[in-house]
Amino acid sequence: MSSLRILVFITLFIKIGAQSGDDVKHLITQLFTTNDYVKQVRPNQNQLQPMILDLDFFLVGIDEVDELKQRLITTGYLIIGWTDEYLNWTSADFGGLYHLHVPQTDIWMPDITLKNGFTKLEKLGSSVIKAKVESNGQVTWMPFEVFESKCTIDITYFPYDQQSCNIIFVVWSSSVADVMVTLWDDGIKLDSMEDNAE
Ligand SMILES: *[C@@H]1O[C@H](CO)[C@@H](O)[C@H](O)[C@H]1NC(C)=O
Repeated sequence: MSSLRILVFITLFIKIGAQSGDDVKHLITQLFTTNDYVKQVRPNQNQLQPMILDLDFFLVGIDEVDELKQRLITTGYLIIGWTDEYLNWTSADFGGLYHLHVPQTDIWMPDITLKNGFTKLEKLGSSVIKAKVESNGQVTWMPFEVFESKCTIDITYFPYDQQSCNIIFVVWSSSVADVMVTLWDDGIKLDSMEDNAE
């Protein structure tokens, strides 16, 4: 009689996210001080390549349609993603820390603006908004805004009219050789849209 012995070795590599406040501190020191991060530099090592921005627009609500002033006021946010080649790290060196939230004013930001804005040309976002940075350098930024845009409103068929308005975003000071915008999924999302009585 032969007996069959099967030995099974199971090795489990259990990764515990054990990052501490010190890991976060060390990582910030590493990225910004040791690596000497300069936010004015477009963050791709090969400066002949353009930065690729992925962009999605989420419309939350239409606040106002003013046919007299030919103005549309919407609330929404953009999700803009890109890779910052100067903001990557080996997460194992920092207690498994794989993402970080940094104020948008601390890192390179594309100068995206609303082109057909009604008031003045302003940079999106604000200093209270943080961008998420992942260990592979992927940055995700979600500026939330109330957009006032110009829209030609034709009321000939009121109240059975249908209006079409463009909300145009541009990367203002850079050319397409420097910064290229692509639409992430469908470009515009209505998932979080609240109905407006009009
Ligand atoms: C960060 O990315 C650059 C460019 O892709 C690469 O050369 C470098 O080795 C990366 N550093 C780490 C720590 O992963």
